[in-house]
Amino acid sequence: MRFSPVRNRLKKSELGFFLLWLRRPTRVGALVPSGRALAAAMASRIDTNVPGAVVELGGGTGSITEAILAAGTTPKDLVVVEREAKLCAVLAQRFPDVRILHGDARNLDELLAAAGITQVKVVVSSLPLLSLDSGDCRRILTSAFAVLPKDGEFLQFTYGPASPISRETRQSLGIAGRRADWVLYNLPPAAVWRYRRDPAEQTVCAPDPAYDSSGSVAPLRARRATRPTVAPCTITENTTTT
Ligand SMILES: C[S@@+](CC[C@H](N)C(=O)[O-])C[C@H]1O[C@@H](n2cnc3c(N)ncnc32)[C@H](O)[C@@H]1O
Repeated sequence: MRFSPVRNRLKKSELGFFLLWLRRPTRVGALVPSGRALAAAMASRIDTNVPGAVVELGGGTGSITEAILAAGTTPKDLVVVEREAKLCAVLAQRFPDVRILHGDARNLDELLAAAGITQVKVVVSSLPLLSLDSGDCRRILTSAFAVLPKDGEFLQFTYGPASPISRETRQSLGIAGRRADWVLYNLPPAAVWRYRRDPAEQTVCAPDPAYDSSGSVAPLRARRATRPTVAPCTITENTTTT
């Protein structure tokens, strides 16, 4: 059987992903990239009519990146953050017109500021939140909601039945979430969750019934009104890990 060069490259990148997982299972988080149905389910939640950048966290070898582009986001409106340099190289090769930021999602606000990205409409995450300690999880979410507008959403998939963000973390950050989709045609089956600031914070009389707004809320403080600007490039190195 003959494979096209693109197919060969994809197979190689998937093998590379698996080898990286063997060396760093908790850092990479999954044995193989997300399936097409799951990637499409995540991408279908993005409103392409709303202006602003789509920020993908944990690009891996690009299965969700590909689906986001296929669903109508233009390469110039997509920014992918990935911590592993080897995976950044794979992403840059597969998606030469997409901005790939090499860095840690815990510092998302700084990474975006350094790349001159000021308007974000949605954050799409495939980070292994369940295997992170709660401090790292909280830091990633704090940084993500600091760059999102008031009604901006943080999308996350998970393989478990429950919210991948604990109630305690949701309450301490003032965010609410709901399961938006089940994707049974994925190995393992997965669910897509949507999180946003708790609507109870925005209106005292009519919280959005679609969202689980249980528990107390704490407002997220607006951070960094002014941000440094640098020229965008295909891969931006930022390995700050503090
Ligand atoms: C479960 S894999 C998902 C890869 C791909 N998006 C997919 O769905 O197949 C998680 C990815 O997140 C990256 N990652 C983990 N922690 C990260 C962090 N703090 N900042 C940026 N990327 C991170 C890993 O290197 C890995 O590529």
